[in-house]
Amino acid sequence: MNVLLDVAQLAVRYPGQETDAVSGVSFRLAAGQCVAFVGETGSGKTSSVMASVGLLETADVRAERLQLEGQSLLHSSPLQLRLMRRRALGVVFQDPTASWNPTRRISAQLLETTPRAARAAARERLIALCDRVGITAPGDRVDRYPHQLSGGQLQRFMIAGALLHDPRIMVADEPTSALDASVQLELIALLDELRRERDLGLLLVSHDLHVVARLADTIVVMFRGKVVEQGPAAEVTGSPTHPYTTSLLAASIGMTGPRKVPLATNVAWDPEIVLGSSPVGGS
Ligand SMILES: Nc1ncnc2c1ncn2[C@@H]1O[C@H](COP(=O)(O)OP(=O)(O)O)[C@@H](O)[C@H]1O
Ligand SMILES: [Mg+2]
Repeated sequence: MNVLLDVAQLAVRYPGQETDAVSGVSFRLAAGQCVAFVGETGSGKTSSVMASVGLLETADVRAERLQLEGQSLLHSSPLQLRLMRRRALGVVFQDPTASWNPTRRISAQLLETTPRAARAAARERLIALCDRVGITAPGDRVDRYPHQLSGGQLQRFMIAGALLHDPRIMVADEPTSALDASVQLELIALLDELRRERDLGLLLVSHDLHVVARLADTIVVMFRGKVVEQGPAAEVTGSPTHPYTTSLLAASIGMTGPRKVPLATNVAWDPEIVLGSSPVGGS
């Protein structure tokens, strides 16, 4: 088993706080597998996942072990971290409108860190990836501005951009929460296909247990910053041991009905990872 991410007893504390926002998070992510974090808004899913891949530079992150492809993230310099992340990670964030700079074309945003000399080739690769993720007429659409595209299309572009550097790990933090139910279903299926095709490790965040049950190998259920239940997806959803998991299952109606759980909001993030080196908006 090719372990991409190995996390033991992870804890996160935000500046100025006296308690940990998250503690006791442990999991492994192997190539071709999906680990999903579920829980209501504020339970610590984003903090856990982003800290696990070295993306929470502003918080105090502690762990017994925190390894990305065998390299510890705990004692690496910011520059080393950035290089490791860029090589290993593709990231898809929750809110497609907040993740894009409204004043710049999609292609410019996705290719801005590519050296000028390599840009034409990268653009070709990007267009092929856009085609793969279900964008029709990608050669034309890739030069549009964000407001000219739907939320679902923007998320597809973000997925294509995340694949541009051939990541081994795809991080998707509530990638479909802001979208219509039918588009959600398509995008979740797409992420699953890409995982299989590319042997990606998929780190997925959702507040909907039924959604992740379809594709996760392991489910981590979070409540108030702690892991309350963790195990194979079939076990967690089939015979939950914690009452909170049961209530999450009851609150979740999967892809078909309206959402009863309020949408989570984006937290601060390092946009460089998705699209290159300079901010493209975000919170
Ligand atoms: N940048 C931040 N500064 C201070 N507290 C934060 C920050 N981001 C998140 N938190 C707090 O950490 C806890 C977990 O938040 P988060 O990881 O965003 O949960 P989730 O993704 O499950 O909604 C919450 O109490 C939230 O208020
Ligand atoms: Mg979140």
